[in-house]
Amino acid sequence: MTYAIRAEGLAKRFKETRALDGVDLEVPAGTVLGLLGPNGAGKTTAVRIFATLLRPDGGRAEVGGYDVVRDAGRVRSLIGLTGQYAAVDENMTGTENLLMIGRLLGMPRGAARARSTELLDRFHLAYAAGRAVKTYSGGMRRRLDLAASLVGRPQVLFLDEPTTGLDPHSRGEVWDMLRGLVAEGMTTLLTTQYLDEADRLADSIVVIDNGRVIADGTPDELKAQVGGQVLYLQPVRAADLAAAHALVAEEAGPQTATEGDGILAPVNDPALMPRVVRRLDQAGIAVGELTLRRSSLDEVFIALTGHRAEPQTAAAAGGETADPDPAAAPAPAGDTDPDDRYAQTRSPS
Ligand SMILES: Nc1ncnc2c1ncn2[C@@H]1O[C@H](COP(=O)(O)OP(=O)(O)O)[C@@H](O)[C@H]1O
Ligand SMILES: [Mg+2]
Repeated sequence: MTYAIRAEGLAKRFKETRALDGVDLEVPAGTVLGLLGPNGAGKTTAVRIFATLLRPDGGRAEVGGYDVVRDAGRVRSLIGLTGQYAAVDENMTGTENLLMIGRLLGMPRGAARARSTELLDRFHLAYAAGRAVKTYSGGMRRRLDLAASLVGRPQVLFLDEPTTGLDPHSRGEVWDMLRGLVAEGMTTLLTTQYLDEADRLADSIVVIDNGRVIADGTPDELKAQVGGQVLYLQPVRAADLAAAHALVAEEAGPQTATEGDGILAPVNDPALMPRVVRRLDQAGIAVGELTLRRSSLDEVFIALTGHRAEPQTAAAAGGETADPDPAAAPAPAGDTDPDDRYAQTRSPS
């Protein structure tokens, strides 16, 4: 088996923070790995190490068989990177951005121009090619960002939260573009906080939390890992939540999690439901809602980490010290551009 991307015991500390604490992962060539984790899990740190932007201080990382530290130049020639925040210049047009990247990569002027045209076309941006990027919607910027990472015809693509901050429609657009790349056999490592995104796009998933791998497998394997079914219950009185949690945890195990006003637990034993009902009754805890359902990846995540994968907030984004540019902000949400012709012609997803 040839792995396009590999990490072994990968570690990185920032003072007291263990951003990565011994991460192992392997991505076979031509497949998509979803690196899934909440804010601060270590996703961007991992991507920056693979992209040779940051040196690990333990373990090793390889891309295309090359070590990211010893053969950094070789690795750079193989990869494309779309960072968490837009890397394109706001004041330049779409064409100018792609041309500049082509020239920086050492492409002859004619070749750079041809590649820009081809990519703008492919990402449905040809009509806006001559417009300054600052007039683009969030979805258009992300598409241009993706195009920018492909100018050098990479074999391996790193996408750091490619749809965070996008409205659902623009997310659908970016997914379409990614599916196209995947169909062409591009090896991709995609970081995401969105379980549905990993479920839709990834062949395999590695879940990280606090710099450690807490689960890995295909989406189906992860779902099976928490029993395939989850129990959800909501006490009538919010004051009973803690007592109900303790009681359910005794029956269902430590993966029991509090979720909003309710409690979520993996079901590994068909007798769990009646036992929980009996215990709640004995404890005098009135229950408003009690359901048994097939677990979604969301629930797998909660079961594994004890908390929900939260969408990134503006405040949390500002807290990411790894980004050297304080002016770089995530694309505003809900910003489908009325002028984005691709958005208008595309059927809703
Ligand atoms: N340059 C840095 N300096 C100090 N701490 C950092 C730096 N980069 C990341 N961290 C910390 O490392 C942890 C992992 O961060 P990061 O890799 O950005 O997580 P994610 O991308 O999953 O949100 C967080 O606690 C973050 O605050
Ligand atoms: Mg990040």
